[in-house]
Amino acid sequence: MEVLAPDAQGIARAARILREGGLVAFPTETVYGLGAHALSAEAVARVFAVKNRPRFDPVIVHVAASQEAEGLWQEVPELARRLMARFWPGPLTLVLPKRPVVPDLVTAGLPTVAVRMPAHPVALALIREAGVPIAAPSANRFGRLSPTHHEAVLEQLGDAIDAVLAAGPTPVGIESTVVSLVEDPPRVLRPGGTPIEALRELIPELRVEPPTGPSASPGTLPRHYRPATPLFLWEPGPPAGGEALERRRCGFLAFQRPWEGFAQVEVLSPRGDLVEAAARFFALLRKLDQAGLSAIVVEPVPEEGLGLAIMDRLRRASSGRARLDETHIWIVR
Ligand code: TXA
Ligand code: MG
Repeated sequence: MEVLAPDAQGIARAARILREGGLVAFPTETVYGLGAHALSAEAVARVFAVKNRPRFDPVIVHVAASQEAEGLWQEVPELARRLMARFWPGPLTLVLPKRPVVPDLVTAGLPTVAVRMPAHPVALALIREAGVPIAAPSANRFGRLSPTHHEAVLEQLGDAIDAVLAAGPTPVGIESTVVSLVEDPPRVLRPGGTPIEALRELIPELRVEPPTGPSASPGTLPRHYRPATPLFLWEPGPPAGGEALERRRCGFLAFQRPWEGFAQVEVLSPRGDLVEAAARFFALLRKLDQAGLSAIVVEPVPEEGLGLAIMDRLRRASSGRARLDETHIWIVR
């Protein structure tokens, strides 16, 4: 763990760690973020591991200029341009459909990505120097308070991350306002550092979800990622009758070692590493989903570390459990 001064040398060091896939806590105007290379699923998986999140929530991607957002979003509507011109850099996060370059883990399987440009000289210099967009949730452990000082980061994550840029207190102290531009009219998903009143000057018809409402945080919704192909969790034991599907028409998502007799098999992590498994999880699920299979059977992973988040996501994505014999999968009702 390196405690870095927020000067040119410290920022250069932090940028290098990020480029190489490490984790760096850095100040923004709102709270400290736990940063990772946003285009590396493995680096982002480490963020979830360190935060001890019980499930994957979508993460905000930080950029140093509005043009960089254009490389992450499929297209940039006129309203987004006006919001960026008025509020960036600043505590406003905008949600729009993502380009394929953004890993599915960053968006927790959603087709959209949240992007913001922070108004903090250290954050901006860091992103510029890294030369890549930086994915960062608040730098706290799950369920704990968001850190507004590097001392708070050290207290919570000091032994678990590669470096922190120690820049003292953050000026805004509450997280950014998250606005979805996918919906029409646009909707506030999380109130935050940019006041609704200011946003209404540009979006008079803006809808505001109460912070306790069901869509306040998409991470808490039960249907978060559900493939179109029915998905079943493998359960050991002999088939007990019921509905059966031909095994050679089904896909299998294995943890460590491939299984025989399926139309298509994908392996989460040959070395049995849950961080690697988490990094590949959404992409492999999507691959199987697009293969025209009758069903996807998934081997449960160990429920420790990121395995908890993977299993949480799998339970919500699955239509139930299935047992196997040589030729068929048997759906357990
Ligand atoms: O001020 C902030 O926003 C801080 C600093 C570090 O930038 N970051 C932060 O990140 O608060 P986090 O992960 O604690 O909160 C991200 C919020 C969550 O409410 C999440 O559900 C929402 O943004 N979010 C992220 N991606 C989304 C997406 N694709 N669609 C809808 N909501 C999204
Ligand atoms: Mg947070």
